[in-house]
Amino acid sequence: MSSLRAHLHQLPPYKPVEPYDVLARRLGRDPETLVKLDANENPYGPLPQVREALAHLAYPHIYPDPESRRLRQALAETYDLPMEHFFVGAGADELIELIIRVLMDPGDVLVDCPPTFGMYSFVARVYNARVVEVPRNPDFSLRVDALMDAVRVYRPKVLFLATPNNPDGSLLSREVVDALLELPTVVVLDEAYIEFTDNGGPLGEGNSRIREVPHRKNLVVLRTFSKAAGLAGLRVGYGAFPLWLTEALWKVKQPYNVSVAAQVAAEVTLRHREDLIPIVERLRAERQRLYEALQTVPYLEPYPSQTNFILVRVREGSAQALRDYLAQEHGILVRYFSTPGLSDCVRISVGRPEDTDRLLEALAQWTPQPLAAPR
Ligand SMILES: Cc1ncc(COP(=O)(O)O)c(C=O)c1O
Repeated sequence: MSSLRAHLHQLPPYKPVEPYDVLARRLGRDPETLVKLDANENPYGPLPQVREALAHLAYPHIYPDPESRRLRQALAETYDLPMEHFFVGAGADELIELIIRVLMDPGDVLVDCPPTFGMYSFVARVYNARVVEVPRNPDFSLRVDALMDAVRVYRPKVLFLATPNNPDGSLLSREVVDALLELPTVVVLDEAYIEFTDNGGPLGEGNSRIREVPHRKNLVVLRTFSKAAGLAGLRVGYGAFPLWLTEALWKVKQPYNVSVAAQVAAEVTLRHREDLIPIVERLRAERQRLYEALQTVPYLEPYPSQTNFILVRVREGSAQALRDYLAQEHGILVRYFSTPGLSDCVRISVGRPEDTDRLLEALAQWTPQPLAAPR
């Protein structure tokens, strides 16, 4: 239709992962038999206290608190920060959108460092903002000097950085983050996977920069309950923001953006946070086992990871063919990206030990086929 905003004609849609039952039907399998390692979910699900609270919701028939007060209070207590800095959304995804909504006019610049989480550039394009890419090095480290040059030249409104990064799993060093925070732009650190990082104490908290937010004007830290807390299906995430930004976010958000169920589940998770520690430890131990096992597969090269997934380069044969083989022959779902720098990789989420066992068995049976010569 001609009345559509012109730039949307060129916009490629975001490609989300499909739900269990749809995939199972497509593969002709019972959903119970699928091994879902394609979206970095937590296979252990929510804490039992959360399931219990969800079964006894007092007010599902009443609109949720538009200010998520109880949850934000629990966040304030967890981090010992003033509640005013916290803002809650329907997943970190919603917060990414809201940040762009309040900061960017059409044509404004967002700096993106691909390969990374696709949502930053996707949302920027929805808002007809300009995405300036500073691609990472082949080992996925940031090109810090190039990034600094880009900020100087393009004067972006915002720079998004996932740390640890999706899809490779690497954590930014303290020094690099310090240097970037000196730049004249808003720096959004997306810490969706911080709980899985090494050497940060329980739940990786020592690697987080969230406690610095009140002391800086340009730092935003995003977190989510989708990964370590096992609440991906309920859609709830949060961020710590400087107060000049929260003021704007309150103005533009949907009034009831976080459901009653999501607010309760997140609050109960925070109140029982200690109970997440053994679950995260289990996933980190399994990550190590999976990493070591993948290193012994002759046609694969795994990247070391600080998250609950491992990026794997497929050195012989096609990564896409491997993804299809695992899904069709074994009902094992892994993520394949056709984007530059990643087309010979698959990303595998860390599952339960029995999921790793099934994956390794399937990988042992695969014979890489030579790639067709380019014409
Ligand atoms: C780096 C990163 N940030 C944010 C998200 C989205 O999190 P949420 O489920 O809270 O929207 C993801 C999900 O995969 C992610 O990988």
